[in-house]
Amino acid sequence: MYDGDGPMPADELRARVRDKDAVVGMFTDPIDKAFFDSAPNLKIVATVAVGYNNIDVASARSGGVVVTNTPDVLTDSTADLAWAMILAMTRRIAEGDRLVRRGGWIGWSFDFMLGSEVRGKQLGVIGFGRIGRAVAQRAEAFGMRVEHAGRGGAGMSLDRLLNTSDVVSLHVPLTPDTRHLIDRRALARMKRSAYLVNTSRGPVVDEEALAWALRERLIAGAALDVYENEPTVHPDLLKLENVLLVPHLGSATTETRTAMADLAVENVLAVLAGKPPLTPIP
Ligand code: GLV
Repeated sequence: MYDGDGPMPADELRARVRDKDAVVGMFTDPIDKAFFDSAPNLKIVATVAVGYNNIDVASARSGGVVVTNTPDVLTDSTADLAWAMILAMTRRIAEGDRLVRRGGWIGWSFDFMLGSEVRGKQLGVIGFGRIGRAVAQRAEAFGMRVEHAGRGGAGMSLDRLLNTSDVVSLHVPLTPDTRHLIDRRALARMKRSAYLVNTSRGPVVDEEALAWALRERLIAGAALDVYENEPTVHPDLLKLENVLLVPHLGSATTETRTAMADLAVENVLAVLAGKPPLTPIP
């Protein structure tokens, strides 16, 4: 058990894993080669997250360690948050809240703080897995047309999707291929009226490039739940009104976090009992 603030320091993690059979970890824990080298008895790492870019899967496999994640149980809460961010950003909710709190609201007026509507617009989903599809489902209720781009060549090309979408939502895992997928070039392809939402992993977006695009009004706005160096946010983003900044809350509901914790523990109990894990990583 570690109940300190934030992740367990890596050297403490390596020291304490020495005699352990199983580890239940968070995506903030570096489960790297040094970790596996320190854990001769280890049979399973159960990460309480769907993303597992913090885990050196090749080292786990070569050491015969099972890795499990917590897919499915967090799909709806994460899609709900992405949707909340889409509406909050297009309707300028956080910006309005800041204005009210600083005493800047001088009263209703006809063309005050106009946002833009989602009905009739195109949602471009990049990464059409479980969460991307769940976001697409919600779009139907709001009258949005959905296009998607992703692995395997299905859907639109990335360039065409960026070029034609009014809201672009990211749902890809972080891999060497998706790091800085949204860079200056990608942002420059987007419509000037378009919005970007990221509930996947921070490094999928080049934050420096995003701050540039927002400052230069190359896109209308962005909403981020994840960052390149959490909990640090690029200082240029903090200065901009047209970006919504959410502190990594994708799966943060009591119901979902309880289900994630239960699933991680069930994976550990299965593997320690010699049974197959419920949700091994693919
Ligand atoms: C959290 O970010 C997760 O991957 O579940």
